Formats: sequence, C-alpha cells, structure tokens
Amino acid sequence: MMAKGVGETGDVSEICAFVQRTTGIQLGEQKHIMVRARLAKRLRALGLPSVTAYLDYLKQPANGDEITQLIDVLTTNKTSFYRESRHFDLLSERLGLLAERGEEPVIWSAGCSSGEEPYTMSLVALRARVQARILATDISTRVLGMAKAGRYAAEVVADVPKDVQQRYFTKAGAESEVGPAMREQISFAPLNLLGEWRMRGPFHVIFCRNVMIYFDKTTREQLVGRFHEKLAPGGLLFIGLSESLSGLNHPYRLVEPGVYLR
Ligand SMILES: C[S@@+](CC[C@H](N)C(=O)[O-])C[C@H]1O[C@@H](n2cnc3c(N)ncnc32)[C@H](O)[C@@H]1O
Repeated sequence: MMAKGVGETGDVSEICAFVQRTTGIQLGEQKHIMVRARLAKRLRALGLPSVTAYLDYLKQPANGDEITQLIDVLTTNKTSFYRESRHFDLLSERLGLLAERGEEPVIWSAGCSSGEEPYTMSLVALRARVQARILATDISTRVLGMAKAGRYAAEVVADVPKDVQQRYFTKAGAESEVGPAMREQISFAPLNLLGEWRMRGPFHVIFCRNVMIYFDKTTREQLVGRFHEKLAPGGLLFIGLSESLSGLNHPYRLVEPGVYLR
C-alpha cells in the first residue's frame, strides 16, 4: 500500500496545531490546502513519505530547527529598506530627542527578516549622527543568515537613496554590501517571540511590524503586553501600517497609525 503523502489527503491539522502552539502562527482549516501544498516541499527535501512521518520528525528535539524551516515555507519574509517610511521619520525624531537627553537609544527590530528593517534603523541613526544599539531578531535562521551577510541585489538596494548607498554600502559584484558603520550598531540573534526573552532591555523603541498578522488574538494580546514590559516609560511600539491593536486589551496610547506609546 502506498503511504499517504501530502499530495493526497494527508491530514495536516496536527501539524497546524503544533505550529500554532509553538510559534503563534494561526493556521485554521481554510489554510490547510495551502499548508498541504507547501509541506510537500519539506517532505521532498527530507525524503519523508508522509505527513505523519513529518510530524514525528518535527517533534524530535534533535530536529528543533525544522520548525523554522517550516515557518519559512508557510509565511512570507517580505520586507524592504525604508518600508512604511513614515515610521523611520518618527524614529529619526525620537533618536534626536534621546540624543538631546544624552541617552543612547536602544532599539529592537522583532521579526527583522532578511535585515532591511534594522539596517534602515541603523541608517536613520547614522544620518541623525546618533550612535544606537539595535537588536534584530527573527525565528528563521535562514533569513537571519541573509541579514548577517548584509548583501543585497541591486533592485533591493534601489529603495535606498543614491547618496546613502554611496556613503554606507560597498559594491560586491552585482550586489551591494552594508558597510561597517551600518553593521556595528546591530546585533542579530535568533528568537521565537513566543519563547523566552533573555535580553534585559529596556528599549526606547520596538518595531514588530508585519509579524503579528499571523498570530491569533490571544497571542497578539500577550505579545504586546510583553513588549510593554520591555519598553522604557515613554517608549514607542511600532506595528505594521496594515495592522492595529484595536479589539485587543492593551495598555498603550495610539500616537498615529501603527505607532503606540507606553
Ligand atoms: C513579513 S516579515 C516582516 C519583516 C519586517 N518586520 C518588515 O515589516 O518589513 C515577518 C517575519 O516575522 C518572522 N516571524 C514569524 N513568526 C515569528 C515568531 N514566532 N517569532 C519571531 N519571528 C517570527 C518571520 O520569520 C518573518 O521573517
């Protein structure tokens, strides 16, 4: 008898429940067809015969990194330099205020994907002549590797003003590589937002943009509550422009779309 593969009727509901428990990513029944299609990729890569075999594999502690591979095929890592640029104008203002007070800005890019967001933060700080400390985290070790490498294709860097490119990037063949001034303000680290947070904080600014879109209401509520604890009084939480905290129980004051004050 042929093993039940994902192309057939392999039941992915247990996998979806496991992903939701460990990462907060909501995969309701309407997503099961998509999950089945994308899982096929992982099964092929691992040479596993069925969804059941994959679930066993996923749950083994020795294969702890597989969850990040799975998230990579189930979610998007879409990002860009200066994405939702209004937020970086506000960041620049905030950095200026902190500098006036003689405070070194401490910033967190939570869900930093391939690095464009924290590198833009770094550019904003450099342009404001402020030395900042930026923590950049993501659950996906694959995108974190890209972020650390800091090499981007010409069409990706096209979002960066020409003069900024010339000053802070170096040419690496057809690609552009972020230079030392941009790098030295940032520390990259793997982090599952649903797991334990070891960093001390407090942060003056937290960006968690276009990450919570995948999470259920309870997870989002808990997460923004945890961000609140990590923010300094008067600190700012930025979420994506298409996201909102309305409908959630939360302790922030809305400043403008996507921007919340502790
Ligand atoms: C669409 S990207 C957003 C990147 C960037 N913040 C932006 O707005 O351009 C979402 C990122 O969230 C990450 N992510 C999803 N679930 C996560 C979790 N539980 N913990 C940490 N990162 C997570 C994904 O790996 C992905 O890189």
